[in-house]
Amino acid sequence: MKLSTIILAAGQGTRMNSALPKVLHPLNGKPLVNYSIDLASAAGSLRTVVVIGNGAQQVRKAAGDSVEYAIQQERLGTANAVQAAESLLAGNEDPVLVISADMPLLTVATLTRLVETQASAGGPMTLLTVRSANPRGFGRIIRSIDGEVIGIIEEAQATPDQLKIDELNAGAYCFSSPWLWQALKKIKLSPKGEYYLTDIVAVAVAEGKKVQAVTVEDEEETLGINNRVHLAEAERVIRRRINRAHLLAGVTMTDPDLVYIEETVRIGRDTVLLPNSKLTGSTVIGEGCEIGPGTIISDSSIGNHCYLLASVIEGAVVEDEVGMGPFCHLRKGAHLGRGVHMGNFGEVKDSRLGAGVKMGHFSYIGNATIGENVNIGAGTITCNFDGVLKHPTEIGENTFIGSDTMLVAPLKIGKNAKTAAGAVVTHDVADNEVVAGVPARPMKKKKE
Ligand code: UD1
Ligand code: CA
Repeated sequence: MKLSTIILAAGQGTRMNSALPKVLHPLNGKPLVNYSIDLASAAGSLRTVVVIGNGAQQVRKAAGDSVEYAIQQERLGTANAVQAAESLLAGNEDPVLVISADMPLLTVATLTRLVETQASAGGPMTLLTVRSANPRGFGRIIRSIDGEVIGIIEEAQATPDQLKIDELNAGAYCFSSPWLWQALKKIKLSPKGEYYLTDIVAVAVAEGKKVQAVTVEDEEETLGINNRVHLAEAERVIRRRINRAHLLAGVTMTDPDLVYIEETVRIGRDTVLLPNSKLTGSTVIGEGCEIGPGTIISDSSIGNHCYLLASVIEGAVVEDEVGMGPFCHLRKGAHLGRGVHMGNFGEVKDSRLGAGVKMGHFSYIGNATIGENVNIGAGTITCNFDGVLKHPTEIGENTFIGSDTMLVAPLKIGKNAKTAAGAVVTHDVADNEVVAGVPARPMKKKKE
């Protein structure tokens, strides 16, 4: 079915008490407005208009160009915000879904039910309601004696009896579009000086038209974000949803409340995630790994059967059977070959470590290419920066770098070579050569 969507996102969100517009606050790493955009597209919306006002340029930048934008000049209420999209959507006969950018927990299944009800009933509109003992400031649904929806009353305007109504307006609607545009014009200014979209129900009833309602089954879905308490509650809901899906797909978590995974992350079977670990961005993790406690991985690719304890990994590639930690830091461009071992306090940036490299303690490797089975002694440092430029270091396979070696780049060390403890290597070292001292000089040839 054809569908258009209007996402209301022009408010400042005063109750967030923030310099950032409410709809840009991240929820599990993704701005609130992007949840609504992704929902609309999953529900099959062909055209999505985001109504912006406060922080318009910022919102536009975050929300991207998969959607269209309408500007609401003044914050004159939710009905006025919908009206701002009229010039873009008028003439388009598709049903119009209206949702708020502060309702990130709604599901596609619920919105689909809303849209399908509207399509089959064919009346002016269908709205989403929720039954809850905790009204959280939502509008109350007024029904007639025979159960028809005849109005929505905002909390501020409700009488004490109306305040007791436990059926609430969830703030999601599907409209017949030709009806919507003319009905909006009939909405009067509320005592608070705003045009309330909720008053459109009374407009339909006055025209003798029947309003449909769909009741959401899981109250959790209708948690709106008005302040940072709500935002924290929503974090917990999203985390539970994401972690549950991974658990069912074969990932172990000893305490799922303490594992933070963005929705973009992929994880293989039989991987174990231990508490206080966080996986973000484009991270992909293989099978049978043990991650954490206390490991943070962003935008990285991890192979199978890796063991990553209390480490930070950013923009790196880690092949199978790598063991690391505690307290290692892989930075952008680090690539660790199969079976690399990194002990405590290692940092690697823009470097490739060949298979089987061992780097047990306190080392910095930057802009280096290191051959297979090289042993990097405790405290080794690639001195890659001369104050102006970064320079490369190359080390051949099976070479032994002694403890506390300073590798002053640019530098090339051959295969099967050796540096003595405390060497400051300023000149290239040949295959099989042993160097020692400050600055390092050749000692004797190794037997071949
Ligand atoms: C609204 C509903 C209320 C419902 C609740 C559910 C109205 C009048 N009330 O109240 O019945 O129970 O949602 O969450 O609709 N916005 C604009 N321009 C404006 C005003 C608001 O774009 O001039 C946007 C806001 O950015 C927000 C959305 O519309 O994304 C809803 O506005 P908000 O002020 O949060 O309405 P509620 O008080 O939550
Ligand atoms: Ca709200």
